[in-house]
This record gives sequence, structure tokens and C-alpha cells, in this order.
Amino acid sequence: MSKTKLFEPYKLGPITLPNRLVMAPLTRNRAVAGMVPSPLAVEYYGQRASAGLLITEASQVSQQGQGYQDTPGIYSKEQVAGWRKVTDRVHERGGRIFIQTWHVGRVSHTSLQPNNGAPVAPSAMRAKGKTFVGGTFTDISEPRALTLEEIPGIIESFKRGTANALEAGFDGVEIHGANGYLLDQFARDSSNKRTDAYGGSIENRAKLMLEVAAVVAAEAGAERTGIRISPVTPANDVSDSNPQPLFDYIVDRLNALKLVYIHVIEGATGGPRDIAPFDYGSLRKRFKGTYVANNGYDFELATKVLAADAADLIAFGKPFISNPDLVERLKAGAPLNAFDKATFYGGGAKGYTDYPALGEALDAAQ
Ligand SMILES: Cc1cc2nc3c(=O)[nH]c(=O)nc-3n(C[C@H](O)[C@H](O)[C@H](O)COP(=O)(O)O)c2cc1C
Repeated sequence: MSKTKLFEPYKLGPITLPNRLVMAPLTRNRAVAGMVPSPLAVEYYGQRASAGLLITEASQVSQQGQGYQDTPGIYSKEQVAGWRKVTDRVHERGGRIFIQTWHVGRVSHTSLQPNNGAPVAPSAMRAKGKTFVGGTFTDISEPRALTLEEIPGIIESFKRGTANALEAGFDGVEIHGANGYLLDQFARDSSNKRTDAYGGSIENRAKLMLEVAAVVAAEAGAERTGIRISPVTPANDVSDSNPQPLFDYIVDRLNALKLVYIHVIEGATGGPRDIAPFDYGSLRKRFKGTYVANNGYDFELATKVLAADAADLIAFGKPFISNPDLVERLKAGAPLNAFDKATFYGGGAKGYTDYPALGEALDAAQ
């Protein structure tokens, strides 16, 4: 086996990670009662506690921030209590866990919104695409543009979500600034046609993401605040006419805020890594904190990128869905369980907590 830094410890702000593997945020749509994480979620995250760092599935900071059925929230007392059981289990197993906080913006459906209203967006432009409601994929609803007066309320919801996350025992917070959700909708010029202080120039479009980052860092401490970005992903129907200067600027400002990490989806989320030209090395250079790389990584690519010092940590998504003991398997050079796409979103234990660890798989075969 080639020499790898993947299993070396790493100091992430005040936290020491025993290895460089991060479990990427993965929406699983199983918070069926009041958008509260279920007992199965406690088991699911607990099974994966050997990851250097776990990042939870995206969790909405308000009802308005929800875009798919049965995704967990971090705005009610019951949700905080549900997450507390998750963090307790992960900590009992010796793990570390951040929550990904989320506002979907326009990627939603009226049936999920307060009073069945329109989802909110930088501009009243519908995203082409589907969301998951009522057990099926349905067209995303027509949104309305947020007024200038509503923006402080959005920032406040991320601040409250952070306070709740700390109360729930999380080790830190990852702001979801990626994949065409609200903060990314503001940043990119295909979805932001505003003419006020939050539209037009790069500085104006980046403003909401940076204001959210500042309040979350003030609440949790910058050393416990990370953010996820995806400079060129076309996910959820967003694009930008000139992403390099936009994300160079964003990362310069995030560096000034001293966030503990940037988590970068390189290429199209879950798709080609080379979908569009982009210099990730430029982000790496600008950001003095930790660079977490994601998208399509396997052992070989992770080893190569760590050896080249192009990233500090590597986030794995789908491999963690089907391999609770991904760390041990990669260490042993053991084969990985294949994942079943049919059980990604919604359902119960099947395809969620029933993927076997290595010893269990051997036992089952005997
Ligand atoms: C089932 C599923 C759910 C996902 N949910 C989220 C999410 O909640 N937040 C997020 O930022 N990315 C989400 N993603 C994207 C993954 O975090 C990751 O970027 C993507 O799967 C590429 O990494 P991989 O090649 O290691 O799987 C999801 C992906 C999948 C397959």
C-alpha cells in the first residue's frame, strides 16, 4: 500500500482529529416527526464515529429554510433535544461532529413553507429542478424575492441555529454556502438580479454569505466555524459568469474572519470534477486555515492530494453512506460495500443503519 497521510492526526482549531477523513454532509430525509432527528439517526452517526470529523446532513435554521420533506431542523427545542442524543452518542464513541446549517432559499415547495407561501430567493426566478415532497420528486415552486428588510431575519436565523447547535453539544458548525442554496443563490449572478446592496457587484453578491459567516463565527467562535462552497457546481440551477474572482474574493474575506475551515466541492457535486476550469489552488493559497477537499475522492486521489499539500482533510460522501467503518476499511485496504441509491432519501433502517462493518460482514459470510 502506498504511503498516505490519510491516517495521520490533524489539529482542527481546538480539536484534534485522529485521521484526515471527514464524513461529508448527507441528506437522508428520515426526520419524520417534527423534523427531529430520529433514534435511527443516533445509531447512524454513532456507527460512523471513527471518521476524523463527522458533518451532519444539512439542517434548516427555520421552517422557511426547508426545501425537502423530513430533513431535520435546528430551530425548535425538540430538534435540539433530538440532536443532543446524536452528539452524545458520537462523543461516547470517541468521535467529533459539526452540524451543517442550511437555508434552501428558492429550492423549496409551497407545501413546506409557513402558511404555504412562496419560497424566498434573491430574485423571483424559479430554479429548474425538482424537490422531494410527499414521497416523490416534485417541481420546485415559484419563489418571491426577499425584501431588504427581511435580510436581517435570515442572518438572525443562522445565529439562532448556531446557538442551538452549541446547546445540542456540537463541536462546531458548517455553514452551507454551496450547491445552489440561499447563500450560493445570492453569490452567483445567474440567480441574483438584485439592484440593492445585495446584488450587482461581487462584493454585494457575497455580502449575505459573509454576514452570515461573521455572526456564526461570533456565536460559535471562528475556530469552530467552517463553511462549504462549490464554486462551479451547476447543482440546483445556479451558475456564475466569472466564478474565479467571485470565490477568490469570498475566500479572502473568510480568511480575514479566521474561519477554521473552507470545505470545497471541486467540480459538479457528485459529478465531473473537471466540469469547468477553476483554480482551487488559488483558494488554497488565500486561505490560511484548513482546506477540506470533496467530490469523487477515493483512497488514491486522497493520498495524492494530501501528499501534494493541496488539501488538509478529505471529505467522503457516498463511501460513508455504505461503509460505517470507512476509516478501518481504507486502512486495511479492504473492499468497500456498494451503496444503494434507492435508499438515499427517506425510509427507515434499510440502507441507513444496516450497512455492515468489516467484522460484521465476515461474520455474516461464515
Ligand atoms: C444522498 C446525498 C445527500 C447529500 N446531502 C448533502 C447535504 O445535506 N449537504 C451538502 O452540502 N451536500 C450534500 N450532498 C453532497 C455530498 O456531500 C458530496 O458533496 C457529494 O456526494 C460528492 O462527494 P462523494 O463523491 O464523496 O460522494 C449529498 C450527496 C448525496 C449523495
